Amino acid sequence: MSFPSPAIPTQSTLWNGHAGNAWVDLQPILDGMFLPLQQRLLDAVRHESPRRVLDVGCGTGSTTLAIARLVGSEGQCTGIDIAQPMVTAARARAERESVAATFIQADAQTCAFEPHGVDMIVSRFGVMFFERPIDAFANLRRASRPSGLLNVIAWRGAAENPFMTTAERAVAPMLDLPPRQPGAPGQFAFANKDQVGLILRDSGWHDIDIQPVDVECTLPARDLADVFCRLGPVGLALQQADEATRAKVIDAVRPAFDSYVQGDEVRYTAACWVIRARPLPKGERA
Ligand SMILES: C[S@@+](CC[C@H](N)C(=O)[O-])C[C@H]1O[C@@H](n2cnc3c(N)ncnc32)[C@H](O)[C@@H]1O
Repeated sequence: MSFPSPAIPTQSTLWNGHAGNAWVDLQPILDGMFLPLQQRLLDAVRHESPRRVLDVGCGTGSTTLAIARLVGSEGQCTGIDIAQPMVTAARARAERESVAATFIQADAQTCAFEPHGVDMIVSRFGVMFFERPIDAFANLRRASRPSGLLNVIAWRGAAENPFMTTAERAVAPMLDLPPRQPGAPGQFAFANKDQVGLILRDSGWHDIDIQPVDVECTLPARDLADVFCRLGPVGLALQQADEATRAKVIDAVRPAFDSYVQGDEVRYTAACWVIRARPLPKGERA
């Protein structure tokens, strides 16, 4: 079985279509799986006690809502995301859970944020998708108060995150997937720490601190096939596939995950960066 993969769409098309819809459908699974990363951001918020927080690439809003609860009525947490399906889901969730978080559907690279309006900028895996990362981080720097803090989590490289590429390696004989382009917008765009440091420096941030963290993530084993069939390059290639094809791919790929399955749970290590920086004072900017 072999069929060609579709052309690579822009990030906006991807997140407003296939990827955004998949993240909305899988929201409870993904929020459970990435909860330990959210806890790290909450710990940082607790430590800094910001009043106004911006969550970049907020997706379906789990982290935004958790921070809004934490800062309470004295503060404000706003999530920004380029994807309509994600923001619609996040707003519905805020209403359902009676949390006073706000959500903007816009591109964080160009959004006209209130200048110096936020004390802290956070993100769980939402900052690696910019086509123009220097413009994006310069825009975020303008949104930050002079004493503000950037504190975001991004993936390290694919080689350090073998769980995340298991499906595409296993499916290679069947699906003609386009190779991942190093540094291109996407999950592993921030693999290179030096490159990330340069992006931040050139966009007007200083006190840049990029630390590796390894975080254990889990998901129910019954949800594993949904995750690898809907997300990433394999999910993209399978979006038009019929049930029979999907079933064949699951049969072929599922054994490749055996080493991650422990009873009814899947466990893997997420190799990430915690990236922190402060806005460069105005007079010191190039
Ligand atoms: C991997 S998801 C993470 C979602 C969420 N932070 C979470 O942890 O559940 C990446 C998110 O970044 C958003 N995104 C991508 N490019 C963006 C941009 N230029 N501006 C704002 N959001 C963007 C996507 O729409 C998507 O919701």
